Amino acid sequence: MTGDLARNKLLPAIYDLANRGLLPPSFALTGFARRDWTLEHFVDVVHESVVKGARTPYVESTWQELARRIRFVSGSFDDQDAFDRLADTVRELDEEIGTEGNHAFYLSVPPSSFPVVLSRLSQSGLSKSANGSWRRVVIEKPFGSDLQTAKELDEVLSAVFAPEDVFRIDHYLGKETVQNLMALRFANQLFEPLWNSHWVDHVQITMAEDIGIGTRAGYYDGIGAARDVIQNHLLQLLALTAMEEPASFEAAALRAEKIKVLSAVRGPRDIDLHTARGQYGAGWQGGAPVNGFLDEDGMNPNSTTETFAAIRLDIENRRWAGVPFYLRAGKRLGRRVTEIAVVFKRAPHLPFDPVSTSQLGLNALVIRVQPDEGVTIRFGAKTPGTKMEVRDVTMDFGYGHAFTENSPEAYERLLLDVLIGDPPLFPLQREVELSWQILDPILEHWDGQPIEQYRPGSWGPDSAERMMAVDGREWRRP
Ligand SMILES: NC(=O)c1ccc[n+]([C@@H]2O[C@H](COP(=O)([O-])OP(=O)(O)OC[C@H]3O[C@@H](n4cnc5c(N)ncnc54)[C@H](OP(=O)(O)O)[C@@H]3O)[C@@H](O)[C@H]2O)c1
Repeated sequence: MTGDLARNKLLPAIYDLANRGLLPPSFALTGFARRDWTLEHFVDVVHESVVKGARTPYVESTWQELARRIRFVSGSFDDQDAFDRLADTVRELDEEIGTEGNHAFYLSVPPSSFPVVLSRLSQSGLSKSANGSWRRVVIEKPFGSDLQTAKELDEVLSAVFAPEDVFRIDHYLGKETVQNLMALRFANQLFEPLWNSHWVDHVQITMAEDIGIGTRAGYYDGIGAARDVIQNHLLQLLALTAMEEPASFEAAALRAEKIKVLSAVRGPRDIDLHTARGQYGAGWQGGAPVNGFLDEDGMNPNSTTETFAAIRLDIENRRWAGVPFYLRAGKRLGRRVTEIAVVFKRAPHLPFDPVSTSQLGLNALVIRVQPDEGVTIRFGAKTPGTKMEVRDVTMDFGYGHAFTENSPEAYERLLLDVLIGDPPLFPLQREVELSWQILDPILEHWDGQPIEQYRPGSWGPDSAERMMAVDGREWRRP
């Protein structure tokens, strides 16, 4: 609870939940880390990250109430005594604050430490619930680096916690716009009739960042864009876009539909033709010179890890046969944007002369996940004037305009769901394994191959354009 993720996301989210009156009255927070901090110092660190990162206004009384419930245990993961001290601390909280033996362990720690932390939790008796209380564990991606390692991680987890007590965080699923995708599809009559291969030409799912890897060379080298975000965020977005209507939004029903559709996903037959990958080179972005990926601090100059990946996937079921799903993710691209674009077929006949419709693209429905959350519909309209000329226009729904309350952070929703034990937004191990089954052949094919460079601020390497061109399509420029 002292690392990057905790300071930037988790601690502010806990305060925001407290501020919204949503934390259970018996909530308490215990930090565990190596650094030799006093409780007072840890409380100061939490305070600093709350002041810096909270979404809701700072309220002194909320903070004081939360601060009273904070504890800190200093110790190393290899020190069983430290875990015994952790066990004593949470037992005291059971008495003092009334947590009643209900404990969630958020492993906001390097993934390589999962096995040792889990075995210590088990040895100190912390993972075993008693007298109707619950024990849960929360883990962050990466869930392994291929199918084999994902299974190994699951074995380690299942040795200590029951499957229903494991909460795998994919923070994209906590985002309001991602949940709105389900509202859009299943609460309306307007879109669902069009949501199939009769009307949809293809789907593009983009997660573009305009920043480089910064100081994260140690994490990113050897991982790359496909493992970092396609395996989890983008394939989850694909599943929610393509799945059938769940019987309800209960965890089992929703997960069953995601599993069904992920089971029907097929990777490209010709991987060279229908995938692309690249590394950002040195150049300029936002008016400033920027390093190339291989020159970033701590990078191996011979790395072939990709900072951009694009993949065509097909879904072999009746609804989606013949409709490609193109996924792309990259760093140092033209803009920071995550979106799902459902692109429709051209009208079968256009009763205009071809010049009048030269500015008309394909109709599209674009779900903007971030930033500027909302939905855009693109369609053709007549340009003003005496001639019948048609060009693309857009119709917009923006969360910021339609609702006065701003959207909670994904981590607020997900942390609360862990505490109340509501798991629909947490992927199952089966979903993780299916995602690796889709990606593994592609990753193996890429392994050891030369890698293309692309210009910072562009939309990726030339091969990304080529993979669309062979299908007679092009990427959107969001
Ligand atoms: N950062 C992000 O935005 C992000 C995004 C997605 C997923 N994740 C995932 O979230 C998890 C945490 O990431 P992070 O970036 O916050 O990591 P981090 O900054 O490296 O923090 C790791 C935490 O673990 C503690 N720790 C490490 N080794 C320890 C040891 N031997 N004994 C006791 N404590 C130890 C560190 O405290 P001490 O140094 O005091 O020991 C620190 O509190 C990882 O699984 C990561 O893959 C992070």
